[in-house]
Amino acid sequence: MALDITPLFAPLSIKHRLLRNRLVMPPMVVNRGIISPEGITWYERRARGGASLVIVEATWITRFGQELTAENLRPLVVAMHEAGALAAIQLFAATSDGARSPAELSRTDIDTLIDDYARAAEICAEAGFDGIEPHGAHGYLLNRFFSPVQNERTDEYGGDTLENRSRLALRIVQAVAPICGPDMFLLYRHTPVGQGYGLQDSLLLGAALINAGVDILDISPASVEAPGDLAAPFRRLGVPVIAVNEMDRLERAVEAITEKRADLVAIGRGLIADPDWPLKIRYNRMEDILSCIRCDDCHVDLRQGRFVRCSQWEEEP
Ligand SMILES: Cc1cc2nc3c(=O)[nH]c(=O)nc-3n(C[C@H](O)[C@H](O)[C@H](O)COP(=O)(O)O)c2cc1C
Ligand code: SF4
Repeated sequence: MALDITPLFAPLSIKHRLLRNRLVMPPMVVNRGIISPEGITWYERRARGGASLVIVEATWITRFGQELTAENLRPLVVAMHEAGALAAIQLFAATSDGARSPAELSRTDIDTLIDDYARAAEICAEAGFDGIEPHGAHGYLLNRFFSPVQNERTDEYGGDTLENRSRLALRIVQAVAPICGPDMFLLYRHTPVGQGYGLQDSLLLGAALINAGVDILDISPASVEAPGDLAAPFRRLGVPVIAVNEMDRLERAVEAITEKRADLVAIGRGLIADPDWPLKIRYNRMEDILSCIRCDDCHVDLRQGRFVRCSQWEEEP
C-alpha cells in the first residue's frame, strides 16, 4: 500500500503562528556565517525547499549586541519569511572565557550568562525571528548542568537534586519567556537520555520547562543512531514535540506523525543533501530526491571549519 504522506503536510498552529506543515529544519552549523551573503543564501534555499520552520544554527549568545544586531540579522529573517518558512534560531550558552564545565562558572558568570540569553532573545525578537531555542542538548554546557556526572557543583546549581541541576535551564527560560510574549515560540532542545540521567528525569525537566514558559520541546538523542521516537513520551506533557534523527526515512517520519509520537519531525542531513526534500515529497517526486547516504562528510566539514557541503553534490543546489 502506498504511504499516505498527507499527515506530514497538515498545518499546525502554535501560539499565534501557523506552520505550513510538520517538517522542520533542525539547527546545523554550516560555517557560512549567518549574516553573510553565503549564510543567508543557505537558509533562504532551505526555506524555499518547503520546510515550515527553519532553525538557524547554534549561535553563541556572547555574539549578540556586538557582532550580531537586530539590523544585521533582519535580512536573514526576511529571506526565510519571503521563502514561506518561519524562522527560529538556536542560542548556544557561552561564557566570555569559553568555560565548558559547570564547576568553572562563578555565580557572577551564571548571572551574566542568563543576562546574555535575555539580551540575545531581545535582539532576535527585534530582528523578527518567530522563535528562539536555548541549546540544552548534546553534552554542551546546559546539558552538563543537568547531568549528575558532569555537574560537580555543590551549590544550588548542582549536587544530587534534579531541582538544582535544572535550575540554570529554568532561570534562562524564565528570563527569555517574557521576551517571547504571546507570539514568538520558545523552543528548548534537550537530549532525553544522557550521562547519568534517564528518561524519567528528562520528563520532569520537560514539565518544569513548560511550566516556566517553553512552547515546543525539541527532543534530540545524542547519537544519530538512536531512535527518533524517544520523543514520544514527551507528548503527554502537553506541548508540541519535535522528533529528530534520520527522519528523512520517509516511513519513519510518517509513522511518527501518524502514530502521534511527535507533532513535528526535523530533517537535518536530508536537507543538507537536498533542500527540496519537503517539496519533492509533497508533489510525489520521490525519485528526484538526492538522499543522504550517511557518509558523514558534512560532519567532517563542520569540525574542520569548512563550508558544510554534501559529498554527493556536483554543484550546490
Ligand atoms: C553539519 C551539522 C551541524 C550540526 N549543528 C548542530 C547545531 O548547531 N545544533 C544542534 O543542536 N545540533 C546540530 N546538529 C545535529 C542536527 O541538528 C540533527 O540533530 C542531527 O543531524 C540528526 O538529524 P538527521 O539524522 O536528520 O541529520 C548538526 C548536525 C550536522 C550534520
Ligand atoms: S555529506 Fe554525507 S552525511 Fe552529509 S548530507 Fe551528504 S550524504 Fe548525508
